[in-house]
Amino acid sequence: MEISVIGSGYVGLTTAACLAEIGHRVLCADCDLEKINSLKAGRLPFYEPHLDDLVKRNVSSGRLEFTLPSAAIQKGEAIFICVGTPPLENGEADLSSIESVARLIVSSAHGYRIVIEKSTVPVQTAKRLWKHLSIYNANGLEFDVVSNPEFLREGSAVEDFFHPDRVVVGAESSRAIALMKEIYAPVLRTRTTCPVHSQCPSMPEPKLILTDTNSAELVKHASNSFLAMKISFINLIADACEAAGADIEKVAEGIGSDKRIGQAFLNPGIGFGGFCFPKDLQAFVRIGEKLGCDFSLLREVEKINVRRTEQFVAKIKKELWVLRGKTLAVWGLAFKPNTDDVRFAPALNIIRRLMAEGAKIRAYDPEAMQKAKLDLPEVTYCESAYQAAEGADAVLVLTEWSEFREINWKHLGELVAHSLIIDGRNLLSAEEASSNGFQYVGVGRAAAQPLRPTGEPKWTEAITAELPVASHPLSASSQAPPIA
Ligand SMILES: NC(=O)c1ccc[n+]([C@@H]2O[C@H](COP(=O)([O-])OP(=O)(O)OC[C@H]3O[C@@H](n4cnc5c(N)ncnc54)[C@H](O)[C@@H]3O)[C@@H](O)[C@H]2O)c1
Repeated sequence: MEISVIGSGYVGLTTAACLAEIGHRVLCADCDLEKINSLKAGRLPFYEPHLDDLVKRNVSSGRLEFTLPSAAIQKGEAIFICVGTPPLENGEADLSSIESVARLIVSSAHGYRIVIEKSTVPVQTAKRLWKHLSIYNANGLEFDVVSNPEFLREGSAVEDFFHPDRVVVGAESSRAIALMKEIYAPVLRTRTTCPVHSQCPSMPEPKLILTDTNSAELVKHASNSFLAMKISFINLIADACEAAGADIEKVAEGIGSDKRIGQAFLNPGIGFGGFCFPKDLQAFVRIGEKLGCDFSLLREVEKINVRRTEQFVAKIKKELWVLRGKTLAVWGLAFKPNTDDVRFAPALNIIRRLMAEGAKIRAYDPEAMQKAKLDLPEVTYCESAYQAAEGADAVLVLTEWSEFREINWKHLGELVAHSLIIDGRNLLSAEEASSNGFQYVGVGRAAAQPLRPTGEPKWTEAITAELPVASHPLSASSQAPPIA
C-alpha cells in the first residue's frame, strides 16, 4: 500500500521504516526541513537500535522516501499522523500540530484517505478530527479517521513493531478496518522476517483489538497511566523498605511473582521520565477533570514521581553533607537505556538541582550527551564512565546502561576521590561494590546489612520506632537482640 507518515520523530521514523520493511511504499515527512534533509543524507535524528540499518535498506530498495508533508499527503492512501503532542502549561496535550496536519490533508489530498491518528491524544480527538476535516473539506475528500495508538518503547522500538502484544484499531467503518488489517497483515500473522532477530523467538500472534475510536484513545492513556502507577507504587514501597530495614529487591520479587501483578515495572529508582509517561499522565488527569471523573489517584502517582528528585538529592546530601564545591560523576543522562532521549529525563532534573547547590558535574552517557548538552551546557561531558569518575566525591548511577555493570572496580577505585556509589537505578551489586571498598547506597536496599550484625544492632531502631515491644514477635526470642 502507498502510505504517508507525517512526523519523522521517534514514532514516525520508526513506523515509516518498519512499514516499508513489511512491503509498503512509504513517504516519511516532517515540517522540519533540516530533519528531512539530514534523513535524505542518511543521518538519523536520534539513536534507536537497528533503525539505522532498516532505514538504509528500505531507502535503497526504493520503498522509503523522505519528503515534506504536502507531497506525502498527496500520495499516500493511508496517512499516519505521528507528530508531537507536547504538554501545554496546564498539562493538557497540545494538539496544534495534529490540527495543522488535518488542514493540510483537506487542502492537499484528493479521492479517498484513511487518516490514522498514531500520536497520543486525549479521548474524543478522532471525533474532533473527523469534524474538523469535514468542516474544512474544500476538495470533496472522502475519508475515514482511525485511532491506532502506538505502544513502542524507545530502545526496543523496532522489535516492538514486529512483535507487538497487541495492535489496537479504533475505527468506525468497514472500509477503514479492512485497510488497517491489510497494513498490519504481515505483523499480525507473524509472517514477516523480523530485522532484529536472526531467528525470532516463538511468540503468540499479536492480538488485534478492534474497537471504536474513543475506546482506542483511552487504551493508550490508561496503559501509560497504569504503568506509571506501578512505578510510583514500587518507589513508595522502596521508601518503606529503607525506613523499615527491608530489601526492595526481595519485596518486589515477592510481589511480582503473583501472576496477577507480574514482575515488569517493579524496579524502584529515581522515577519515570521520557516523552510519554510524565506528559501522558498529566494529560490524562486533565482529561479526567474534563470528563468530570475523579482522577486523584493519578495525581498522587505524579506527586510521588516528582518527589523522587528531591529524595535522591537528599540521599546524596546525607552522604556528602554540603554539595558546594563537590565533584559528582553522573553515569547516565537518557531517561532510560538504549536511547539518546533526554526529554523529561530524571537525570537532568537531578543534575539541575545538584548544580543549584554548587556541585560540579562530570557526566557520561553512551548516547545521550549531544542532546543533554543542548539543555545543560554547563556540565563537563566525558568520554567514558571512568573519565567522569576522575576526582569524584561520589559516582551517581542515573540510567541503567548495561556497560556500567561491567565496571572494573579496581580501576574505578584508583580514579575517584572518595569511594562512594549512589545508585539511583539499583543497577550495581551492593555486595560487589562493598567487597571492592566502595560504600554503596541504593534505592530501598536498607537490608543489605546482615540480619544479626556483630556490632551495634542498628536494625532494632526502625522496629522499636514503630512497634510496641510486647507485640513484636522477636521480643520473646532468646536469639533476638534486645529491644531498647
Ligand atoms: N516517543 C515514544 O516513545 C512514544 C511512544 C508512543 C507514543 N508516542 C507519541 O507519539 C507522538 C510523537 O512522539 P515522538 O516521540 O515521535 O515525538 P518527536 O518529537 O520525536 O517527533 C515529532 C515530529 O513531528 C514533527 N512535526 C510537528 N508538527 C508537525 C507538523 N505540523 N507537520 C509535520 N511534522 C510535524 C516534528 O518536527 C517532529 O520531528 C506523541 O504524541 C507521543 O506522545 C511517543
